[in-house]
Amino acid sequence: MKIARTIAEVREALAAIGEVGLVPTMGAFHAGHVSLFRAARVENEMVVVSLFVNPAQFDAADDLAAYPRDEAHDAVVAEREGVDVLFAPSPEEVYPGGFATWVDVEGLGDRLEGAFRPGHFRGVATVCLKLFNIVRPDRAYFGEKDAQQAALVMKLVDDLNVDVDIRVLPTVRDDDGLALSSRNARLNPEHREAAAALPRALQAGAAAYARGEDAAAAAQRVLDAEPHVVPQYVEVARFDGRLVLAAAAQVGGIRLIDNVTLQEEPA
Ligand code: PAJ
Repeated sequence: MKIARTIAEVREALAAIGEVGLVPTMGAFHAGHVSLFRAARVENEMVVVSLFVNPAQFDAADDLAAYPRDEAHDAVVAEREGVDVLFAPSPEEVYPGGFATWVDVEGLGDRLEGAFRPGHFRGVATVCLKLFNIVRPDRAYFGEKDAQQAALVMKLVDDLNVDVDIRVLPTVRDDDGLALSSRNARLNPEHREAAAALPRALQAGAAAYARGEDAAAAAQRVLDAEPHVVPQYVEVARFDGRLVLAAAAQVGGIRLIDNVTLQEEPA
């Protein structure tokens, strides 16, 4: 596996090669990331994983500083999974002095996560477009776990005529239902246990929806019963055609998000 640190290096590694799959990440790999690497491995001749903790998408400096980083371990995981190129640029490589162009996806980028994390999706959209332009992948892989992000990337690709096929893969979960996330490593054991209330609440919401009841209210009740969980939003939303119940909550000061699909009656 090649580790590329500059845009020139990653482009050179990809010159004159067949179909390329890109998996954008911020590292601290877990089985959710690995599921995307594997899907990319099956569908492409060349698999590029980007590992870049994108400062532009963090609204708080302490959150950026506390974001888990372990490049050495990530490189071992990527190599094991047959990744061809790990693109791990410095912040200066991605945002050189004088950088001034930003991508804003209106509407979709302003709600839910966008409302709670001002500037977050502008940073996500900008870095994703840059990665698409740097790597020029045929396919790019995203997780349903960040359903609003995946829908935003699809919208950006559509609106700006980016020639890449966006693939969205199911959420990988721990045994108790908690969606895998790099941030889970920051939960202490008590908060880790409490965090399982988030998927439990979403499941309760989905079951209520199936009975014709209010999905968000049912999920909210479960979250309200767990003292360590501080909900930020619980809402039904449609992301790229998929009707979901999405929620964000703080658990022991760590912000977690999750969503489940709501089964709609066939029209
Ligand atoms: P990161 O949080 O590292 O996630 C990288 C990709 O892995 C995203 O597409 C995310 O949805 C997916 N993912 C995370 N947890 C998952 C899980 N439990 N199951 C399946 N997929 C999962 O999302 C980002 O990084 C950044 O915003 C990025 C897109 C790289 C832009 O900086």
